[in-house]
Amino acid sequence: MIIDALLKLTLLLSSLYFVTSQRTADRDVSITIDVSLDYDVSSPNNVTLDIAKSIFSGRGQQYQYVQHPELFKDGPKNVTDLWVKFIDAFQYQTPCTVDPSNFSDFVNAAAHDIPKDKTLLWSKTRTLANTYSQSGGRYFTITDSLSGYLVNDLDFCAQKQYPGVNFRSCPPPSHQCQKGAELSFWREASRKFAELASGTVHVLLNGSTIAYSNESIFYGYELPSLREGTVTEIRALVVHDLGVRGREKCGSGTLLKLQADVRKRGFKFQCTDDPADLRHLLCADEPATSSCRFLDNDHTSSGNQIQNIFKTSAVRVVLIYTFFYWRFVR
Ligand SMILES: *[C@@H]1O[C@H](CO)[C@@H](O)[C@H](O)[C@H]1NC(C)=O
Ligand SMILES: *[C@@H]1O[C@H](CO)[C@@H](O)[C@H](O)[C@H]1NC(C)=O
Ligand SMILES: *[C@@H]1O[C@H](CO)[C@@H](O)[C@H](O)[C@H]1NC(C)=O
Ligand SMILES: *[C@@H]1O[C@H](CO)[C@@H](O)[C@H](O)[C@H]1NC(C)=O
Ligand SMILES: *[C@@H]1O[C@H](CO)[C@@H](O)[C@H](O)[C@H]1NC(C)=O
Repeated sequence: MIIDALLKLTLLLSSLYFVTSQRTADRDVSITIDVSLDYDVSSPNNVTLDIAKSIFSGRGQQYQYVQHPELFKDGPKNVTDLWVKFIDAFQYQTPCTVDPSNFSDFVNAAAHDIPKDKTLLWSKTRTLANTYSQSGGRYFTITDSLSGYLVNDLDFCAQKQYPGVNFRSCPPPSHQCQKGAELSFWREASRKFAELASGTVHVLLNGSTIAYSNESIFYGYELPSLREGTVTEIRALVVHDLGVRGREKCGSGTLLKLQADVRKRGFKFQCTDDPADLRHLLCADEPATSSCRFLDNDHTSSGNQIQNIFKTSAVRVVLIYTFFYWRFVR
């Protein structure tokens, strides 16, 4: 009886400790509301209009002839024509008044089928999403589709003076400049990309910040453009930065709002916190982080694994239990 009670007390104390340490870790996460955009704006460079055009053309050939010829069985698209449509969308306009709709000719001309169940949307997880997608091998992100591939990492804006476009240095998106060419392009391209999705759509979200932000392109342009009847299910994959306790988890906070928004659209919804494959990818860059210590076991024998498990949990409980027993019961 006494032993039983002591054991229960020990368990209670250790679970209290666990809860307290979780609370402390929660406070360490500082949340900044991100008014900005999911896309990077690079520093000034020396990309001229001519250089931008050859980058674009080379990428167009690379994508259609080398990377994904299977998507262009009816023949490749005319890359010169795509370039003309792209430039016409913003050339000689004022820098901050380019509308997403101005890119629709280009985005529609560049559109191609995305294989069923292969669409990967993301918000605040750009690098991880693009590593995970394996350039279309596992999934397609927007930059694994032709329109995003052609334009990825280019910095561009409109200007009134010759040559009417600028690929060197652009004002960063801000509340004063919400309709720069670059941001408007990504909004329109994302809208179209979502419209082309079918089957199960995955979305990779960041639980270390506001996971489902109402300022994200996912919220404003992608989710509303998924087609009912064509898309059947949304699977949210919520990752948390290693070594930090996440701010948001499936079934709470903005992820609850996401669930409601998804169901309202008539799609099934599934949400997973820290799927193992994504955690392994994160751990590849930071194998020494304590939450990646499971890697230590991979190259040892199963005997050692059992030893490790005992070291970390059971032995502790048994020691505490023995101590209480020896000290008070005997
Ligand atoms: C751009 O080119 C100029 C002259 O050709 C050079 O001085 C400058 O460092 C270059 N800038 C960058 C960011 O490469
Ligand atoms: C490709 O498009 C350009 C610009 O629209 C046009 O001048 C050219 O003739 C087209 N090439 C082919 C092979 O259709
Ligand atoms: C850009 O879009 C706006 C709004 O739809 C339209 O008024 C304007 O004429 C378009 N400009 C060009 C160059 O297509
Ligand atoms: C999640 O967001 C935080 C804060 O913006 C950022 O530092 C981190 O790199 C993001 N995590 C991933 C996996 O992209
Ligand atoms: C986004 O949400 C914040 C607070 O949750 C709200 O103040 C803001 O008006 C919302 N913005 C939009 C564009 O819905």
